[in-house]
Amino acid sequence: MKLIIVLFTLVLFIQCSESRHTGWFPQNLVDAFTNKTSQITNYVRSKGRSLKQFYVENVRNKITTYLGYNNQTESEDRIDNQARVKRKFKSYVESAQANEKKLFDVIAPKKLEYSCDDNDPSIHMSTPQLIAFHGYPSESHTIVTEDGYILTIHRIPHSRNGKRQNIPRKTVLLHHGLLGSSADWVLAGPEKGLAYILSEAGYDVWLANVRGNTYSRAHLTLNIDTFEFWNFTFHEVSQYDLPAVIDYIMDNKGWDTKINYIGHSMGTTILFALLSTKTHYNKILRAGFALAPVAFMTDIKSPIHLLARYSNNLEYLLKLLGANEFLPQNAVLRWLSKHACEINHYEEAICENSMFVLCGHDERQFNRSLLPIILGHVPAGASTKTLIHYAQEIRNSGRFQQFDYGKESNLKEYGTITPPEYPLHKITLPIALLSSENDWLASDVDVTNLYVQLANPIEHYIVPLKEFNHIDFLWAVDAPKLVFEKLLQLLEEGVTKPFFNINSH
Ligand SMILES: *[C@@H]1O[C@H](CO)[C@@H](O)[C@H](O)[C@H]1NC(C)=O
Ligand SMILES: *[C@@H]1O[C@H](CO)[C@@H](O)[C@H](O)[C@H]1NC(C)=O
Ligand SMILES: *[C@@H]1O[C@H](CO)[C@@H](O)[C@H](O)[C@H]1NC(C)=O
Ligand SMILES: *[C@@H]1O[C@H](CO)[C@@H](O)[C@H](O)[C@H]1NC(C)=O
Repeated sequence: MKLIIVLFTLVLFIQCSESRHTGWFPQNLVDAFTNKTSQITNYVRSKGRSLKQFYVENVRNKITTYLGYNNQTESEDRIDNQARVKRKFKSYVESAQANEKKLFDVIAPKKLEYSCDDNDPSIHMSTPQLIAFHGYPSESHTIVTEDGYILTIHRIPHSRNGKRQNIPRKTVLLHHGLLGSSADWVLAGPEKGLAYILSEAGYDVWLANVRGNTYSRAHLTLNIDTFEFWNFTFHEVSQYDLPAVIDYIMDNKGWDTKINYIGHSMGTTILFALLSTKTHYNKILRAGFALAPVAFMTDIKSPIHLLARYSNNLEYLLKLLGANEFLPQNAVLRWLSKHACEINHYEEAICENSMFVLCGHDERQFNRSLLPIILGHVPAGASTKTLIHYAQEIRNSGRFQQFDYGKESNLKEYGTITPPEYPLHKITLPIALLSSENDWLASDVDVTNLYVQLANPIEHYIVPLKEFNHIDFLWAVDAPKLVFEKLLQLLEEGVTKPFFNINSH
């Protein structure tokens, strides 16, 4: 009986703490439950027991059963999970709408009572510090783009084994996705992080950072707090950032250098946008390898598609999401301190926010002990306009095109009523796509549609594990076996296959 009361209290408490900002719940009731929870906490502590253990032993299993996440068949479980996350996200959107708040203020309300346990020093380390922490050499390079953004990119020039320093190394450029940074490739550590694995395999590894993320928050003339600074989407990233980074590497290593490009998520979108518009980069790069590729977005399971129906109402969306930076740092910190704590209590349902809401969550492949460090580095910053651009891709299903300002403004901006499509047929670089079936952002249909449009496809590899999702490409427990092994093999041999150039006339 006691247990049921505890359980009921906790479930209510969780619900209260999430919906307190909506104001419909009587505040005194909230206080009473909060008080109840702290009483339980004190009780458990006074008995000299670990709260975590008490929670796991006595409550978690009950909640799991109560909410019905217990052993069902795998796929039912997954569909269930997706539906649950969608419902939750939808309720966030509705609540933000009703209260005229920004979406992420609703997900992470300002008032927090938690302070966080962050013992692991790597949570606060920058990418170069993480690289050095694991015993690898690291470099930082600062690059100014043609339109004045100041980017800092990172590099692991050679492996831990210093003896082979002088042997020329093949070059690889890793590009993170939306909300990510160079840290994405190193935070899983030397055994699992792709940057280290490539370094050990003999590559000179460069790690890009886009404008607006943790390492690239500066401009020659614009202040970071202005809309002008954040007035960009993946289009500008593809037209200015990526060329600047590639040119810089060529300047640094010599113009006969052949760069292998590996992108994840938005890191693939910008590659397709670059190669179809500034076509000479098809000759400069050696090959492209697209992890969880995103170009067409017709078949999206991510709740981001809920934003799609508002995507022609720019004013509304900018208000909902915040005009400048999507998920600004203070919201992130609030979110972080809230969720890292709750996650310490193993309440996994709660970590289905933000990144996990947008991208899905694969319990089997997710290494929980990475969570605090992931939360320490992700989200790393992105413009709201980029998110809206993606939402537009979903609405205009089947068109991979530039930002839509509405008919009149399009006419001014582009000289046409509809935004120009990216002419994918102009891409002649050999490209391999690596995708998975449970990817909420890059579905089978869309990736296949992309693949058939490539003039020089290397291979379309589908990860042989049904649950594998969008962010598993970065951090899955089995990513080295399921993805990186194949990637290394393609890097070594993929491009030597004969290919024809349909654009040569
Ligand atoms: C919390 O409970 C204790 C003990 O029952 C009580 O003395 C205290 O006033 C309560 N605090 C609030 C804020 O309700
Ligand atoms: C349910 O799954 C857990 C592990 O997640 C396992 O220990 C338990 O035996 C399973 N129960 C049933 C009834 O299959
Ligand atoms: C934002 O960028 C667009 C496209 O480059 C441009 O037309 C517009 O004037 C910019 N707006 C502001 C306020 O800088
Ligand atoms: C999970 O991550 C931790 C921390 O990086 C690491 O020590 C551990 O080996 C990882 N576990 C698996 C199964 O990959």
